[in-house]
Amino acid sequence: MYHRKWWHDKIMYQIYPKSFCDTNGDGIGDLRGIISKLDYLKDLGADVLWLSPIYKSPLADEGYDISDYYAIDPRFGTMADMDELIAEAKKRDMFVLMDLVANHCSDEHAWFRKACEDPDGPYGQYFYIRGAGADGGRPTNWRSYFGGPAWDLLPGHTDQYYLHVFHKKQPDLNWENPKVREEIFANVNWWLDKGLGGFRIDAIMNIKKPAELHDYEPNRTDGLSPLTHMLEEAGDIGPFLTELKEETFAKHDAFTVGEVCGPDPVSLQAYIGEDGYFSSIFDFEENTFGRTPNGYYDWQRCTPEDYKQCVFRAQARAGSIGFLSNIIENHDEPRGVNRYLPDGERTETAKKALACAYFLLRGIPFIYQGQEIGMENKVFRSASEIRDVGALGEYETAKRAGCSEEEALRAISAYSRDNTRTPMQWSDAPHAGFTTGTPWIEENENYREINAEKALKDPDSLLYFYRKLAALRKAPAFKDTLVYGRMTPYLPEEKNLLAYVRESVGKDELPDLTCPTPRLLVAVNMQKEAREIPLPGKAARVLLSNLPVSDGAADGRARLKGWQAAVWEFE
Ligand code: NOJ
Repeated sequence: MYHRKWWHDKIMYQIYPKSFCDTNGDGIGDLRGIISKLDYLKDLGADVLWLSPIYKSPLADEGYDISDYYAIDPRFGTMADMDELIAEAKKRDMFVLMDLVANHCSDEHAWFRKACEDPDGPYGQYFYIRGAGADGGRPTNWRSYFGGPAWDLLPGHTDQYYLHVFHKKQPDLNWENPKVREEIFANVNWWLDKGLGGFRIDAIMNIKKPAELHDYEPNRTDGLSPLTHMLEEAGDIGPFLTELKEETFAKHDAFTVGEVCGPDPVSLQAYIGEDGYFSSIFDFEENTFGRTPNGYYDWQRCTPEDYKQCVFRAQARAGSIGFLSNIIENHDEPRGVNRYLPDGERTETAKKALACAYFLLRGIPFIYQGQEIGMENKVFRSASEIRDVGALGEYETAKRAGCSEEEALRAISAYSRDNTRTPMQWSDAPHAGFTTGTPWIEENENYREINAEKALKDPDSLLYFYRKLAALRKAPAFKDTLVYGRMTPYLPEEKNLLAYVRESVGKDELPDLTCPTPRLLVAVNMQKEAREIPLPGKAARVLLSNLPVSDGAADGRARLKGWQAAVWEFE
C-alpha cells in the first residue's frame, strides 16, 4: 500500500551549474543563469531542480570539495541569488535540491586547516589522521577513486597522513566523531530552513569505515587495493543514515536521493522502503555495466540488449519496495545517447526511443541538462582538453597500462565525466550561447546542429518529445499507473525489444483512488530493423509514439519500425 508523498509524481532535472548558463561572461555558469532559464525548465515539465554543488570551493573536484558549507562560491553568485532562485522556483511550483557532500570537505576548509595546525586537538578528530604504516610509508595501501594512493602527508607534517578516498584536496570527514555529525546536521537544517526541497546525497556509502584500517590484496601493478574491500568490511552504516534522516530530512519532509550503488533487495527496503533512510536512490545498473576494475580503457560497450537486461534487473530488484531514481546520464557519466545507442544509429528517432524507454519505468525520472536536446559526447583530441581530475587519472592509468595516446583519448572520449560537463548548448551563437566569454571547458563542436533554440523551433524535436513524456506522466488519467503501477517486462526474450506493461493500480494499493486506472504498454524497438509483436490485450489507443504507428486494434498486433517507441493504453 502506498501513501502519497509530494515527490512521488515529480520530474527531476539535474543542473551542473558550472556549465549551465553564464550571465557575467566569466566562462562559468551561475545562479542568475539558472534563474533566467526557469521558464524553459518549467515548460519542459521539470518540477525539482538538483543543483550540483555551488558552495564555496576551490573547485578541485568542481565543487565536490567544499570549503564553506554556509556560503555560495562567488563564481556562482551570492546568497541573495540563491534565495531568489528558491523563491522564483517556488513561484512556479518548483523545488530546488542541493548536493549534500558530507563524506569529505575541502583541504581549504577551516576544519582541515585547524587539524593540520594541531592534529592532536579537537579538529584532528574531524578527519582520519594516522601515523606511518608498518613499512614506514602510508598507513594502508588503498587506492583513491581518482587513482593514486588514498593517503597523503598531512600538510606541515612528515610523519602523519590523512585519508582522502577521492582527490587529495578532499579529506574524508570522520563520521564516528559526534561533533562532525552535529556540524553536518546543523548545516543541512540551515539549508532546509531556507526552503530547499531536499538533497541529492553524495558518495554517502563511504562515510562508514572499518574500525581497523589495514591493507588489502593489491589488484594492479601499483601495489594498491581498491576501496571496495574497505567498504565491504566497514560494518553497519544504518545508524549513521538513520540519525542523518531523523535529525534533518524527516523534520522537513524533504526529498532525498542517495548516491548508493546496488543494494540487495533486503537492504533496499532499509534504503528506500516506506521508512527508508532516503526517499530514493539512483539506479546505476545500466551505467555500471561493462566496467572492470582496470579503468575506462578496459570497459565494455553496453549493447541495447545489455541495456534492456540491466533495466529489467534493476526494476525487478526494486519491485514495489520503493522508488528508484532513473537516469540515462549525469555529471559523472558520458552522455546516455552515446553509451546506449549504437554508433551509426544515434538518430533523433533513436534518442526519443531511449527517452521513452527509461522515462516511463517505475521510479522517478531524472533529466540531466542537455539530455532533452540530445547532447552528445565530445571528441577529446588532446589530453590538454581534459578538465576532470577523475578523467585525468584515467588517462594516466590507460597510458600506464600500455595504451597509445590515441587509445587513451578514445577511452576518455567514450567514458569521461567531461562529456556531460561541456557547456549547455543554448543556441548556435559562439560557445553555444553559454557564455560571452571563454568557457571553462570547451563546448562540443556540434552545437550548431544540436541546441535548444533550434529544438524549440521544431515541434518534432526531441525536446518536445520529452515535454510529451512529462505531460503523459503527469496527466490525471495516467499518473497513478505511471507512478504507482507495477512494471512487468513484456516479451522479455525478444532480443532488442524493451517492452513493459505498467499495471493499473487498485484501491488496496492506493486507498484514495477515485476511479479505475488504465493499463499501459511501453514498447521500444531498440534496433534499426522493423519488427512485429502481439499486443497484450485489446488496444484502446496509442498515447505517444516517436513515429507514426497504427493502434493495432484490427489484428492485435503492433508493427514497429526501427527504433520506434510507442505507448498504448488498454481497456
Ligand atoms: C560523486 C560525485 O557525483 C562526483 O562528481 C564527485 O567527484 C565524487 N562523488 C566526490 O564527491
